Amino acid sequence: MSGEESGSGTATERSVVVRQADGDDLTAVVEVGHRTWPVTYGPIAGDDYVAMGLAKWWTQEATIPAIRAGRVLVAEVDGEIVGMASVGPSEGHLILWKLYVLPSHQRDGLGARLLRAVIDKAQEDGYDELRLSYLAGNDGAGAFYEHFGFRETERESGGSGIPDSVWMARPLRTDEQEERQS
Ligand SMILES: CC(C)(COP(=O)(O)OP(=O)(O)OC[C@H]1O[C@@H](n2cnc3c(N)ncnc32)[C@H](O)[C@@H]1OP(=O)(O)O)[C@@H](O)C(=O)NCCC(=O)NCCS
Repeated sequence: MSGEESGSGTATERSVVVRQADGDDLTAVVEVGHRTWPVTYGPIAGDDYVAMGLAKWWTQEATIPAIRAGRVLVAEVDGEIVGMASVGPSEGHLILWKLYVLPSHQRDGLGARLLRAVIDKAQEDGYDELRLSYLAGNDGAGAFYEHFGFRETERESGGSGIPDSVWMARPLRTDEQEERQS
């Protein structure tokens, strides 16, 4: 990854692309998790949770099948991958399993671009609902998802000192709803 990030709000013209990931993106996609998880979850769930999550969900082995299945999107700024999203089907619904933007690029519209692309594709594919969970205490994520029309459906206990998972859902059916979010 290039080290030169001028941060958000730069005045220079940027090229932003959101696209499906391919095999060449593997290292960069995994890197997004490794750079985002410690700052996001360290303070609310602790270092052991971060280490567990990175070892379980952010390895190349765990990521290759999702990329191969076309279930991973990336956001590129000037050719550098700075965000990713991954989804998977479950009982007729679609679940957003991961949505991460590098800390240096947050609050710059990239999460919104990724989520919009996920929603558009899910609608195209005929899913009726998009579901996700975030960790209780990750208030930024909660606010972000509410902004895009997700509503809490249930809380799942994290167990052994880990915060609860807050499940949310957003219907995918109507055009009016799309317009309200834009
Ligand atoms: C949550 C996340 C994906 C949002 O992506 P982003 O690129 O930072 O968000 P955007 O710039 O697209 O935000 C769009 C809107 O969502 C809302 N929003 C986003 N982040 C927010 C926050 N931290 N607090 C309150 N509202 C927020 C705002 O309304 C924002 O619009 P505004 O910036 O004009 O006010 C990103 O911040 C992130 O990766 N965070 C850490 C990892 C994480 O928590 N991922 C979710 C795991 S479930």
